[in-house]
Amino acid sequence: MKAVRIHAFGGPEVLQIEEIARPVPAADEILVHVHASGVNPMDWVVRSGDNDSLRPYITLPLTLGWDAAGVVAAVGNEVTGFQIGEAVYGMPNFPGDGSYADYCVGKASQWARKPQRLGFNEAAGVPLAGLTAWAGLFGHGQLRAGQRVLIQGASGGVGSFAVQFAKAKGAYVIGTASAGNLDYVRQLGADEALDYRSQPWEELVRDVDVVLEASPLRDSAARVKAIGVLKAGGIFVSVNVDFPFDEAVEAALARQQATGALAPNQPRQDWLQEIAGLIDAGQVQVAISKVYPLAQVADAHRESQTWHVQGKLVLEINPNGE
Ligand SMILES: NC(=O)c1ccc[n+]([C@@H]2O[C@H](COP(=O)([O-])OP(=O)(O)OC[C@H]3O[C@@H](n4cnc5c(N)ncnc54)[C@H](OP(=O)(O)O)[C@@H]3O)[C@@H](O)[C@H]2O)c1
Repeated sequence: MKAVRIHAFGGPEVLQIEEIARPVPAADEILVHVHASGVNPMDWVVRSGDNDSLRPYITLPLTLGWDAAGVVAAVGNEVTGFQIGEAVYGMPNFPGDGSYADYCVGKASQWARKPQRLGFNEAAGVPLAGLTAWAGLFGHGQLRAGQRVLIQGASGGVGSFAVQFAKAKGAYVIGTASAGNLDYVRQLGADEALDYRSQPWEELVRDVDVVLEASPLRDSAARVKAIGVLKAGGIFVSVNVDFPFDEAVEAALARQQATGALAPNQPRQDWLQEIAGLIDAGQVQVAISKVYPLAQVADAHRESQTWHVQGKLVLEINPNGE
């Protein structure tokens, strides 16, 4: 089968399309014929080798990609609940061999049935970013109906889902993005959209229950500003788990009588099922900014590295399931 592999850390030029053996599912895994894979910043962060906390967990050579939609091709002998031929989506096998390949394996618990309304390309853009947004808003932020949430990076992969999930749950949503994306953020359902470059959002926003830091900015001074918009008892959640809270951030949380949490992604089947339910009910749309053919994977990484993708990038691997 073909797969996009790296044998060394580096720039987009280390990505190689190769022929390798098809993986065999372990007892608790399923083998999926991948139709499309999401492209996420995680992919090029792993590729670069620059993240010290991830590096010890990575074995080269490695197939990249941890975001997939496809069809079940085989099931491990302990797996119940999946049949060969079913369409699925999931976040398989991080940080092992992933979904930039004709076939990938992952624990059955990392997959769920594909939302029926979506094609494979759209579905492949959902799991990693969607699960991250879900973990941040509900797993750590405990966001409830009627609460106010500020979502930073509201136009990106994680942020686009976060805005829609929060609205679907009945929250009042304020999103930040750059000027050209404010209409997009409103179209996603945000009640207010603010330009993080030109507007003093930290003065305009008040009495927020949850802040979700889903922007790529890793900056403690910006976190202190964001904590200032929380009400007492509020929660500051960051998905940037590689950038821990420093003393200034801890002090700001204490001043505000707020709590802080770093939200790692969790590849949970129950959350994938809930997300699929919202999509099939028409409450969440999937915004795909561009679909790249496999041969252009390096260009997909270059675009992702700009940190200004609107919605999601997808790598089409087997169009029409061929
Ligand atoms: N915890 C986890 O497991 C996990 C999983 C996935 C992602 N993440 C993290 O989540 C963050 C977002 O990831 P993503 O996939 O959504 O990225 P993305 O699709 O590239 O989106 C990033 C968004 O952030 C905005 N942005 C860019 N620079 C900014 C700045 N200086 N200040 C404020 N906003 C800025 C951009 O908005 P404009 O284009 O409108 O400027 C863009 O839409 C990243 O830091 C990523 O590492 C964590």
